[in-house]
This record gives sequence, structure tokens and C-alpha cells, in this order.
Amino acid sequence: VSHRLPPRRACDFSGLSFVILQLFAIFAFATCGGYTGQLRVSVDCMEKASSNLSIGIDFGYPFRLHQVSFEAPACEATRRERVFLIGDYSSSAEFFVTIAVFAFLYSLVATVVYVFFLNKYREISRAPLIDFTVTVVFSFMWLVSSSAWAKALSDVKLATDPDEVQLLIPACKIQTNKCGSVHGARWSGVNTSVAFGFLNFVLWAGNIWFVFKETGWHKGASRLAGGASEKQAGTFNQQPYNQGSFEQSGSYSSQGQPSEYSEVGGPTSYSNQM
Ligand SMILES: *[C@@H]1O[C@H](CO)[C@@H](O)[C@H](O)[C@H]1NC(C)=O
Repeated sequence: VSHRLPPRRACDFSGLSFVILQLFAIFAFATCGGYTGQLRVSVDCMEKASSNLSIGIDFGYPFRLHQVSFEAPACEATRRERVFLIGDYSSSAEFFVTIAVFAFLYSLVATVVYVFFLNKYREISRAPLIDFTVTVVFSFMWLVSSSAWAKALSDVKLATDPDEVQLLIPACKIQTNKCGSVHGARWSGVNTSVAFGFLNFVLWAGNIWFVFKETGWHKGASRLAGGASEKQAGTFNQQPYNQGSFEQSGSYSSQGQPSEYSEVGGPTSYSNQM
């Protein structure tokens, strides 16, 4: 069985496309999971001595903002108060990174299989079906996780807006003290993670077609469409199977119909498995 090689079709392209999927998955989880940002606010007390005009607040992945705290002057002598940000966006952020990491791992394995073990892959009749299912699931997961992460990120931006953070500082509620925002966090890096998430969805959805070709289902559909090619394909399928000889299928292709042979190559290998 091992020396009978089905003709190569979409596979060469799939190997390359899986490498591209790996890179884009890495970009997605690196830009989200590696994010750290800082905002800065000022608290200008009536008694200037207790003011702090530059309070830096650091936060980052996984965006458990309710665990992020900073010291703000209470504007009473040198007393300070610990203030916590509000919100926990870790579930969306971690979901996004988890999907990206698993998508990376899957496309890594898929690349190795397509490039080095393509014939083994085609001998196992279920392999293309599993591949197809997993690719569809990952496309869907990219869409869901990117949408969830996009929503969470817009909430994080609001919760870490210096103008909003000021309102959390008790001293700022007293009219005589003046609070202000020095600068907000930079978002350019983490904005790209959302863009990469949706881009990955598009790429995985597009890759469904290449994996779909490997399932051989589209040949079944085209057979329903054309009756003549159906009969031809049937006889080609039967002969090598009944006689149990692979030389027969080889002589078929030498009889001058290589295009027909390549059409039947996939299903033949499956019927031999069953
Ligand atoms: C102001 O707050 C920062 C923390 O962001 C702290 O490191 C610094 O010492 C404070 N400055 C004063 C004058 O208390």
C-alpha cells in the first residue's frame, strides 16, 4: 500500500498556508498576551505638600483590573490611600490567547503532517474529515474569541481612561482638590491583536476550502452534477479494487487519461481502506 502514492493536489499549497496561519496566530497571542500599559494621573491637593502630580498605574494582560492598585494621596497631611481599578476582563483575554495558542499548535502539527506525512494522512480515511472539522471549529472559535476580546478591550479602555480613574480617588471627590490626567495608556499594540484575531478568522475560514478538497466530498457533489463522469469514475474505482493490483491503476493512467485518474485518486484510496 505504501508505494501507491495518490497525486498531489492542493497539498503543496496547504503546507504553505498552514505556515502563514502559524505566524498570524503567534502575532495574535503575542500582541495580546504581551501587553502592558501605563496611565498617569495627578492629584493636586489644597495643601500642596501632600500632592502627587504624577501617579503611574501599570496594568496589562490578563486585565484583572480589580487587582491593579495604586497609592493616591488622601490630601490629609501625608496620609495615602490604596485605590483599586474596576473590572475583570481576564476571561475574554485568556480565551483569545488560548484559542490563538491552540490554533498555532494545530497549524504547526498540520504543517508537519502536510509536508512530511501527506501519504500517511491520505491512507487514514478519517484524517481529512477530522482535519476539516477541526478547521471549521477553529474558524468559529477565532470569530467568537476575537469578538469577545474586541468587546473586552473597549471596556478595558474605558476602565483605564485617566478621566475615569480620577473618579475612583476619594480625594478627588472634594471640590478643593484638583485632579487631572497626565496621559493614558498606549493602545496601538493591543489594537493589532484584535485586527489579527479577525484576520485569523478570515484565513482559517479560507483554509476550510483547502481542507475540504482533501475530504473528497466535493467530488461526490460533482458526481451528482455530471452523470457521465460518474459512471467513468465508478469503473475506475472498481477495477483496481476487485483485482487487488495497483499495477492496473498505473496502466490506466498510462492509457492516456491522467486527468481522470487524478479525479479518482482520492476516493480510490479510501475504498481500499474499507
Ligand atoms: C507619587 O506616586 C508614585 C506612585 O505612582 C510614587 O512612586 C511617588 O513616590 C509619589 N510621589 C510623592 C511625592 O508622594
